[in-house]
Amino acid sequence: MNWIEKIEDNFSLIKKIVFVTGAGISHESGIPTFRGKDGLWRNHDAMKLATIDAFNENPQFVWEWYNERRKNIFESFPNKGHQAIAELQELFDVVVLTQNVDGLHKKAGSRNVYELHGDIITLRCTNCDFIEENFSEFSEFPPKCRCGSILRPNVVWFGESLPQQVWRNSIIHASESDLMIIVGTSLVVSPANTLPLIAKENGSILMEINPEKTEMSAEMDFSIQEKSAKFLPEFVNELKKIKSRK
Ligand code: OAD
Ligand code: ZN
Repeated sequence: MNWIEKIEDNFSLIKKIVFVTGAGISHESGIPTFRGKDGLWRNHDAMKLATIDAFNENPQFVWEWYNERRKNIFESFPNKGHQAIAELQELFDVVVLTQNVDGLHKKAGSRNVYELHGDIITLRCTNCDFIEENFSEFSEFPPKCRCGSILRPNVVWFGESLPQQVWRNSIIHASESDLMIIVGTSLVVSPANTLPLIAKENGSILMEINPEKTEMSAEMDFSIQEKSAKFLPEFVNELKKIKSRK
């Protein structure tokens, strides 16, 4: 049975669709992945850029790198993959659990987005509870808080916990999903990579969209080797066709 037949057969049971997304969905928006062919972690040492120890030791160096990524992200737009996911919320209860920090799902119009690894647009103080969205160039570098301490990007670094409320809600949404679509993630980073298993244990259909097989492809009901900006609009059209036949 192919994915179209499976979805058509189960259509009346599919109320909630949960997406788990990673860097690959934003690749066609011009944002590099971490472990793909031009992946950031292939040329950069994550331990020197994405840990609190690295930041404390050399905030200037870490901020220079994050500032480049902020510039890249500010110049990027959602692609057809992000847009297709946003369009789907007109037909189903759609939730997006993303590991991305680029804000592109929200920009595309998705309403229920949970950013598991935070976001790069927001800055927060390393000392007090100051936090703000910031789209501008920094006047002082590295940027400082009004309290005098250094600001950091509001992203989750290696060794740090996910924002608690976001993670709790993500588990609930995963367990409630009828169809989980995993897009553009290598599924090697924990705990995000446990979400498909939570969904599966609760009877959800699992579908993966990624040009490459991943370590978890064998767990999927359907593993589709395509790019998301091409496949997701076709997927949404197919769902619309199935709905019109019902
Ligand atoms: P990865 O770079 O590990 O994986 C990206 C995946 O996207 C790869 O499996 C690619 O094959 C796939 N891909 C590439 N182009 C694609 C396309 N056009 N359509 C669909 N898929 C495509 O990125 P993540 O899994 O998101 O965390 O990485 C997880 C976390 O590791 C990140 O959030 C980041 C990183 O360290 C932190 O910084 C805490
Ligand atoms: Zn402060």
